[in-house]
Formats: sequence, C-alpha cells, structure tokens
Amino acid sequence: MSDAGAISAHYTSGALLARLEAALREDGVDPRRPTLEALAPYDHFHGRGLEATEDMAGLLRVAATDHVLDVGSGLGGPARYMARRFGCKVSGIDLTAEFCDVARHLTGLLGLEERVSVSQGDALAMPYGEAAFDGAYSMNVSMNIADKCALYREIHRVLRPGAWLILSEAAQGPGGEPDFPTPWARTAASSFLASRDETCENLAASGFAIESVRETTEAALAYGARSRAAVEAGGKPLHRAVSLIHGALAEDAMANSARALRERRAVPIEILCRKASG
Ligand SMILES: C[S@@+](CC[C@H](N)C(=O)[O-])C[C@H]1O[C@@H](n2cnc3c(N)ncnc32)[C@H](O)[C@@H]1O
Repeated sequence: MSDAGAISAHYTSGALLARLEAALREDGVDPRRPTLEALAPYDHFHGRGLEATEDMAGLLRVAATDHVLDVGSGLGGPARYMARRFGCKVSGIDLTAEFCDVARHLTGLLGLEERVSVSQGDALAMPYGEAAFDGAYSMNVSMNIADKCALYREIHRVLRPGAWLILSEAAQGPGGEPDFPTPWARTAASSFLASRDETCENLAASGFAIESVRETTEAALAYGARSRAAVEAGGKPLHRAVSLIHGALAEDAMANSARALRERRAVPIEILCRKASG
C-alpha cells in the first residue's frame, strides 16, 4: 500500500457518520440539528480539541473577505469554526475520503456550505492555483508526511505574497520515539515527527519567515487533567474524537499519546509564519 493508502486506511472505519450520530444521541443532541458546540468534542481531531483551535485562531487577524486553506481538514471542525468566527471562506483538503464525506454532511447541517468546502486530495499536490489563498493553517497533519519541505513548498505555492501560515503540530521531543499505536499512526512506518528546530528550518527553506513559536505542553497536560476530573465526576472526557474515529484502537492510542506528552517524546507546538510579500 502507498503511504497515502496506508494513511487513509488508518483513519477510515467505514461507519463514521453512523457512529457520530449515535454518540450525539447519547449526548442528548439531535444528530439532524447539531450545533458547532455539540460537535466540538468529535470534529476537532487534534490534541486539546476546540481549545487548541480557539488558541490558534486567537493569533490571527482574518477578514471576512479572506479565503483560507485548511491543510488536512479532517471532519471539518476547525474549518467550520474559522468560518463562523471570522466570516471568511475556508477550503479544506484531506486525504481520507470518509472524513471529507462526513465533513461535507456536517457543514450542510450547519448551513455553512457557502463558506466551507472540502476536497479529497493530497496536500503534497493540491488542486489550487498559485496565490489562491490569504492564509493557511494545518492542525496535527504533518506527522503523517515524510517530506516536510515538499508539503511547505506546496502550501507556499498556493498562498498569496504576505499571507500567513499556522502549524499546530506534534513535534519530536527529546524523550525519544512515541510508542505505537498513536492517534495518527498505527506503527512507526507512518509517523514522521520533526523536532521544533527542524520544523523551523524546513519552513525557512521553503520560503516562510517565522514570526512566533509556542510550545503548548503545559496547556495539554492541564487539559488532560481537566478531562480526567470530568470522568471521575461521572461525566464524559472533554475530547472524544479519537474514540469515535479509532474505536478499539483508541484506548492504546490515547494512552501512548498521553505518555508521549508526559515524557516529552511528542511536544505540541504552534508556529506562525509568513510568505514574503512581493
Ligand atoms: C489527526 S487528523 C487531523 C484532522 C484535522 N486537521 C483536525 O485537526 O481536526 C490528521 C489528518 O491529516 C490527513 N492527512 C494526512 N496526510 C495527508 C496528506 N498527505 N494530504 C492531505 N491530508 C492528509 C488525514 O487524512 C487526517 O484527516
């Protein structure tokens, strides 16, 4: 199987929408009329869920006339959040066809189809023209992509001069390789973590000027503690995307990911950078 095939197979269950609808019903939500907030525990598929998306958006100034690219858009939670918060247009691209189908369905239910669209495809060869976007973000995607410079060059190509890019990623930390499975890879063969410094070097080599780098380990540990407290108090974990998407694999994947965070094997980082203007 090609890299792309192995990666989309890792994320595909074949019954995602039915499982999401069942989870929403269990939460007391009508799956035909969910709100952005009711979907958030499921459709922000990255560490700290909606909280991380809000933090990322807080670093940005986005105009309602802007067209923003979501690289590896998953179930579309971040894209719908950005469209609702800023009134902008968002185009998402993702390798996993089932995620794209569910993303389009949820976008329709929320009445956001005028502003959010999703294409199935590879971030390494995107079906967009040069300088098509005013900004781009990518949340927890590059760990599935070996050739980081090819990814960053392709994003650079589709951004207009002066446009921003934010990466919210897991970087390789000093503590060694994570154990597998993780939420993003079944085995080490499809996990490609780069360190914070390597990521900055790769971005610079691809034509981006770094504006800020922030590590969010403390916030991630605090989020995990709040989630455990919610469960101990008889509630649900705050973030339920990994269980929804990975089913039986989720328990091991989440335990490995929590250990990787504690032992600084995987370090969550946010990097804001910009394509040179003119
Ligand atoms: C952990 S999920 C994150 C999804 C989304 N960014 C979010 O935060 O909710 C990783 C996503 O990256 C996508 N992905 C991995 N490699 C990709 C590639 N080469 N091109 C496009 N999408 C890719 C996967 O299909 C998956 O949806």
